[in-house]
Amino acid sequence: MTQSEKISKYEEIVPQIQALVSGVKYGISSLANFVAAVHRNMNFFWTGFYVVDGDYLLLGPFQGDPACLSIHKSKGVCGTAYTKEQTIVVEDVDKFPGHIACSSLSKSEIAVPVFSKSGIITAVLDIDSDSLATFDDIDKKYLEKAVAYLQEYESFI
Ligand code: SME
Repeated sequence: MTQSEKISKYEEIVPQIQALVSGVKYGISSLANFVAAVHRNMNFFWTGFYVVDGDYLLLGPFQGDPACLSIHKSKGVCGTAYTKEQTIVVEDVDKFPGHIACSSLSKSEIAVPVFSKSGIITAVLDIDSDSLATFDDIDKKYLEKAVAYLQEYESFI
């Protein structure tokens, strides 16, 4: 996919996500539809959410192969996004110290924290690619915009 194709796709998907999640009472339904919209349109290898529960990030709605159930808040790419409170883009997962390999096919990754209105992190959006360096500032910009539509939820547990 070229950079301009990627932008066009996100320009389509982000408003779809806004419509899919707005006014939905049960947060897990919103996460599930969010994942479906992104995964199918972008052809990623794995797309899912880890939801915050105490000291752990627990596997939530996803599409792709079965994945790690539970990640400590301080571990892996997801835990780093949680701890640093910012999106983490990893061009080569083998070069990221502490990367948790749920699949040996995963080569690059982006993890985006989901903030609630009150400013706490309620979940982490995690996307894996089976190619190196799939994710960049375009993905970061649009995925951050998309997860902002989940700010109504104070918890997913
Ligand atoms: N690679 C992630 C773990 C989750 S799987 O990629 C689905 C990490 O290092 O946090």
